[in-house]
Amino acid sequence: MRVVVTGGAGMLGSHLCEELLACGHTVYCVDNLITGRLENIEPLQEHPRFTFIKHDVVNELPPFPKLDRVYHLASPASPPGYARAPIETLRVNSEGTRRLLELTHIHKARFLYASTSEIYGDPLQHPQTEEYRGNVDSIGPRSVYDEAKRYGEAVTMAFVHTGGLDARVVRIFNTYGPHCDPNDGRLVANMVTQALRGEPMTIYGDGSHTRSLCYVSDMVAGLIRAMELRRARGEVINLGNPEEHTVLEFAELIRDLVGSRSRFVFTDPPVGDDPHVRCPDIHKAQTLLGWKPFVSLEEGLTRTIDWLRHALELPAVATAPVPYLNGSAAPVSHVNGSVAPMPYLNGSATRLRSRPPAGAVRTRYHA
Ligand SMILES: NC(=O)c1ccc[n+]([C@@H]2O[C@H](COP(=O)([O-])OP(=O)(O)OC[C@H]3O[C@@H](n4cnc5c(N)ncnc54)[C@H](O)[C@@H]3O)[C@@H](O)[C@H]2O)c1
Repeated sequence: MRVVVTGGAGMLGSHLCEELLACGHTVYCVDNLITGRLENIEPLQEHPRFTFIKHDVVNELPPFPKLDRVYHLASPASPPGYARAPIETLRVNSEGTRRLLELTHIHKARFLYASTSEIYGDPLQHPQTEEYRGNVDSIGPRSVYDEAKRYGEAVTMAFVHTGGLDARVVRIFNTYGPHCDPNDGRLVANMVTQALRGEPMTIYGDGSHTRSLCYVSDMVAGLIRAMELRRARGEVINLGNPEEHTVLEFAELIRDLVGSRSRFVFTDPPVGDDPHVRCPDIHKAQTLLGWKPFVSLEEGLTRTIDWLRHALELPAVATAPVPYLNGSAAPVSHVNGSVAPMPYLNGSATRLRSRPPAGAVRTRYHA
C-alpha cells in the first residue's frame, strides 16, 4: 500500500514510518520540521520505499500517486512547542486536516487523525472515557492546541458523516520513547536528560499530578490497528497506557533507572492549566481493536534512557551532580523556572547524535 504519514519526522511519526516500511508499504513522510528532526528519519532515508517531502501541510499538497492510507500526525505536540507556534498549531490541525481529508477523499483512501487526551482538558471525569466531553478553557494557555485538536476531530467526523469518508480519530495519551526531543519539555525526555547529566530534575507542580505513559511501540501498534480494522471507521478511540502514577513517582523511577543522584526541583509548568490527572479508559480500544499496551514502564523507560544516553553522548552513569556557578542551585530559565535548556529562546538546543544505537530504534511492534 501507499501511505502518507504527516509529521513523519517527529517522535511518533518516525516510528510509524519505520513500522509501515517493515510491513512492506511505500511511505511518503510529509513534514515541515517545525518540531521534528531529520535525525529521526535518517536511517530510513536510503530505503527504496521511503520518500521524505519537506512541506507544510497547511499549503497545497504535492501530487501523489494513488494513495491507500493517510495518517495525519503533523502538529506541534509539546506545550513549549505549541506555545512557541500557536498560529501554526491552529492551522495545521484545522486547515491542514481539511486538506488531508480532501486528499484522502480524492484518492478513496483511509484516514486517521491523531488527536489527543488534551481535548479532555483538566478532566472532571477520571479515567477519561471517549464519551467524556472535557473541561477545556477555549482561551486558556493550552487552548491553541486543545481547541485545534477538537476542531480537527469535528472536521474529520464531518467528512465521515457527509462525505462517507473512511476515517477514524485516535485520542493519544502521553507517549514516550526514542526520538523524543530532550529540549521540548515533555516529562520523560526532560527528566531522563537531566538525570543522565546529574542535573536537578524539574518537577512541575508539587509532584502529585498524575500521568499515564505509553511506550511508543505500543502506540504505533494501536494506530495501525485503528487504521486497518474496518470496524474503526467513524469511531473515536482512546489509545494510551492506563497505568497511572504521580509525577514524583515517575521522577523517582527514572532517577533509579539512570543511577543518578540528581535532586528534584519543583517549579511551575512552562504552560499553565496543567491537567491534574490524566489516565485513559481503554476499554473501547480493547474491545474494538483488540489492543492494549504491553511494554512495561521499566522496560520502556530503560530503552528510552539507553537511546538518550547514546544520542546525547553521555557516559553510562552520571553519579555526581553538575556543579553550578555558586555550587548549589542550577540556573533557572526566565521563562518557566525550568533548569532545562530552552532552545526556542536562546538557540542552545541540545544536539543529538544522528544515529542511535543499534537495536534502540528498531523496537518490536505487534499488530
Ligand atoms: N507524543 C504524545 O505524547 C502525544 C500525545 C497526544 C497526541 N499526540 C499527537 O501525535 C502527533 C505526533 O506527536 P509527536 O509526539 O510525535 O510530536 P512531534 O512534535 O515529535 O511530531 C510532530 C511532527 O509534526 C511536524 N509538523 C508540525 N506542523 C507541521 C506542518 N504544518 N506541516 C508538516 N509537518 C508538521 C513536526 O515537524 C513534527 O515532525 C501530534 O499530532 C500530536 O498532537 C502526541
